[in-house]
Amino acid sequence: MDLLVTRRLPGGALERLAGICTLDVWGRDDAMPRAEIIRRIKGKDGLLCLLSDRVDAAVMDASGRLGIIANYAAGYDNIDVTAAKARGIMVTNTPGVLTDATADLAWALIFAASRRVVEAHTFLRHNDWRGWDPNQMLGHDITGATLGIVGAGRIGTAVALRSRGFSMPVLYAGRTPNTRIEAELGARRVELEELLASADIVSLHVPLTADTRHLIGRRELDLMKPTAVLINTARGPVIDEEALFEALRERRIAGAGLDVYEHEPRVHPGLKELSNVVTLPHIGSATHATRARMADMAADNILAFLRGEDPPNRVA
Ligand code: DGY
Repeated sequence: MDLLVTRRLPGGALERLAGICTLDVWGRDDAMPRAEIIRRIKGKDGLLCLLSDRVDAAVMDASGRLGIIANYAAGYDNIDVTAAKARGIMVTNTPGVLTDATADLAWALIFAASRRVVEAHTFLRHNDWRGWDPNQMLGHDITGATLGIVGAGRIGTAVALRSRGFSMPVLYAGRTPNTRIEAELGARRVELEELLASADIVSLHVPLTADTRHLIGRRELDLMKPTAVLINTARGPVIDEEALFEALRERRIAGAGLDVYEHEPRVHPGLKELSNVVTLPHIGSATHATRARMADMAADNILAFLRGEDPPNRVA
């Protein structure tokens, strides 16, 4: 099997694949240009790609014999699944293994945005601290605050469960009831509008689809409390970034913690200037162990395909 891999991956997965497939690995640390993907996919049976690689019909057709697209991510909005299905190409992802790492990072953003951690750190480093001040760097309580989870799938559930210990009422909005968080936390399923109006911390965990693109725009931001913070570790286009920038600039919401952006790697220049937003470079799953597990999972999907079996994480 000839396999195109669009980046070197952590852990031993590529060595495992190298024993069985002929690998063509993009060796540089920047994104493999689309033209290069289209050139090098020719004659390949498989593609192991990143969430930042747009895999559409043009890429698929350039191969001439592609059988599997193994995405190195849980989200697969970068792949035209309809085009893959129409061509009989399997698509796989890496769900589950990054749930805890991403939920942990969502909480890092909850703390950072609510308690102004990055702003305070920067303040001190700039030698602006003149001593303890009753009015300095006041933030918002986490203990006792109402947590609103938008999208209560694996990661949303894990974020909700981490609220144990902080005495937080939990609301969630989702397509289906989540009996686990209802039973364990007393979480209440509500409409998105009610969640936005009631929560002190709103954390987004929906996949990016046609239905969730700009799920949070001007209208939704205006429903939020002026003291609330918005956390996004899901996908950038779920938020209308321009509307978020305006809401943060005009202090219509208190703050935001963002790991993902509408046009990655470009970040709205205004967001980089505001002190009430914490901006991370899409590192939700970025732990050594998690990224190695993701690579193993992608490799296992490819190896199953090679054996003629249904890959364990097939989404199409
Ligand atoms: C995913 O897998 O979808 C994540 O965004 C990667 O961190």
